[in-house]
Amino acid sequence: MINDKVLVLLNDQIELEAFSSFQYLSMCAWLEHQGYPGAAQFMARQADEEMMHMKKIFAYLTSAGGRAISPAIRKPQEEFDSFKDAFETALNHEKKVTEAIHNIVYESQNNRDFTTFNFMQWYVAEQLEEENLFATILNKIQLLEKDNSSFYHLDMELANLQGQTAKN
Ligand code: FEO
Repeated sequence: MINDKVLVLLNDQIELEAFSSFQYLSMCAWLEHQGYPGAAQFMARQADEEMMHMKKIFAYLTSAGGRAISPAIRKPQEEFDSFKDAFETALNHEKKVTEAIHNIVYESQNNRDFTTFNFMQWYVAEQLEEENLFATILNKIQLLEKDNSSFYHLDMELANLQGQTAKN
């Protein structure tokens, strides 16, 4: 059985993963509108991944005798100052998601909910990958900052770049 406190946290995480999906969809729309279709495709794939993250918790709760709650989604950020700002916002968001995941791991261990503790290990690894992915892109942006024309090439590259999970 899932611990009661952990159950609340897992339902909060369902909301956070769904919000993440909407946030990346919003970034996708902004990037497309700014003339960066490659980066927009990249964000659309991230949005799909976040939906998968949400559904995975949903399925786990159901299989472990808990009740998953369909979340209300708050409005994501719509406007960004620049291409770089969108990716910085994404990285900062992923850092918050990592904190939330680590908190669930901490509480599941503290409350002797070792089934959830085991289930959450996939998310711990996934967060490391996602933070690394956005940090890598930001490093590339920083390298290109002095040459605006290079953003065109980065945009092309992002059309094919994806996280490990999407490749599996
Ligand atoms: Fe599902 Fe990007 O956190």
